[in-house]
Amino acid sequence: MASIAIIGTGYVGLTTGACFSHLGHDVICADIDPEKVARLQNGDVPIVEKGLDRLVDEGLRSGKLSFVVGAAEASKHAEFHYLCVPTPQSDDGSADLSYLQTAAKEISAVLPENSVVVNKSTVPVGSTRVVARVLGRSDVAVVSNPEFLREGTAVSDFLQPDRIVIGSRDQEASIRVAALYSRIATPIMVTDPVSAETIKYASNAFLASKLSFVNAIATLCEAVGADVNDVVLGMGYDSRIGREFLRPGPGWGGSCFPKDTKALARIAQDAGYDFRFLNEVLQVNEEQFDRTAKKVVDSISDEVSHKHIAVLGLTFKAGTDDLRDSPSIEVLKRVAASGVRIKAYDPAVLAEDNNMATMYPDLEIEVVSDPYIASEGAASLVILTEWDEFTWLDFDKLAEIMEGSSIVDARNLLDPTIPRRRGFDYIGIGR
Ligand SMILES: NC(=O)c1ccc[n+]([C@@H]2O[C@H](COP(=O)([O-])OP(=O)(O)OC[C@H]3O[C@@H](n4cnc5c(N)ncnc54)[C@H](O)[C@@H]3O)[C@@H](O)[C@H]2O)c1
Repeated sequence: MASIAIIGTGYVGLTTGACFSHLGHDVICADIDPEKVARLQNGDVPIVEKGLDRLVDEGLRSGKLSFVVGAAEASKHAEFHYLCVPTPQSDDGSADLSYLQTAAKEISAVLPENSVVVNKSTVPVGSTRVVARVLGRSDVAVVSNPEFLREGTAVSDFLQPDRIVIGSRDQEASIRVAALYSRIATPIMVTDPVSAETIKYASNAFLASKLSFVNAIATLCEAVGADVNDVVLGMGYDSRIGREFLRPGPGWGGSCFPKDTKALARIAQDAGYDFRFLNEVLQVNEEQFDRTAKKVVDSISDEVSHKHIAVLGLTFKAGTDDLRDSPSIEVLKRVAASGVRIKAYDPAVLAEDNNMATMYPDLEIEVVSDPYIASEGAASLVILTEWDEFTWLDFDKLAEIMEGSSIVDARNLLDPTIPRRRGFDYIGIGR
């Protein structure tokens, strides 16, 4: 079993560290945030991710998982060094590599001889070379090993991935990294670093394109009178198309798709190729936010226009507490700009944590602890995230406590006949 340092204990780093320790490796996770490290040392997982607290607890108890402040502290005795730091979007759309370069600088002097540095952060083509240059260590190999996990199912995605991609020109280093995954039964693809980096961006941009396509089809369905749920069901039976990522919604978002799609367009531009298709994919998404916000504002009848709207769902998808680039927030920014007041409930966003106010100080939203508190006296009810619990709403109670009678279901989560039977005006997407 190997000794592994994980640099950055966010959604990707913490999942990677906890899963590697579960697979039997000795793992030390480092972060620059001392508060986060202190919580993790006590087994307190600071993010919502199914099954992660159990694995962290298991690792701490077995002694195979530990947490420290500072990358160098983790790296000084490890054989593998996983860089899992943020690569946010720069002003020009490209990926900001400053976190990656800082982390590489921090560890360069302490890396044991012949160790392997692994890029798990999503990085533009050529970044493996950038890291190697910053490290300045001819005895240390740098390997690309992009991560494909989805928040909400990160642990099972890591332990049962569709594939593992390893990019390196150093065959021995590739084999050593592949061996870390020997207990996982999945295809392992070894390629050059530039191809590995491109696989990650191309995969995310393709999924984003699929979502923009299905949202455009939903708009068409509204224009011609088709039901998009039936249309995507009929499409999904075709194995060439597949069922995944065929669900229309308020627009797509999250911490990866928007920045990675923009970064790929930028990579193409820098390489001399005008990837117009991706710009259109991004534009269709902006229009979907606009269209959804208009549905919400139009759902408020004149008699109750002085009332607030009740919003269910703030996170970018169900199963996570991540609010970064959430489509829900994009829609609500537009709705708030029309002067509408907002009360919101999300099972993973606690009013007392104040995360919304910290991340979006200019967006005035009252976060409450219950869907019915949000709905009391509301002009309209709006579902923006597909949490399963929203399918079990008590529509009799909602009809009693709400002032208005509209429901905007931006995730097509509900069976429309149920709210309609209680006298609600049901407004979905493409149906
Ligand atoms: N979140 C996802 O679903 C996902 C999926 C696949 C790939 N990725 C990619 O993985 C990378 C990390 O994403 P994330 O969502 O885990 O980010 P995150 O913001 O949740 O976590 C990053 C962590 O790195 C820490 N950090 C920053 N600089 C550091 C340093 N020098 N030393 C130690 N720790 C440091 C931060 O404090 C933070 O805790 C990004 O490139 C992202 O695009 C993310």
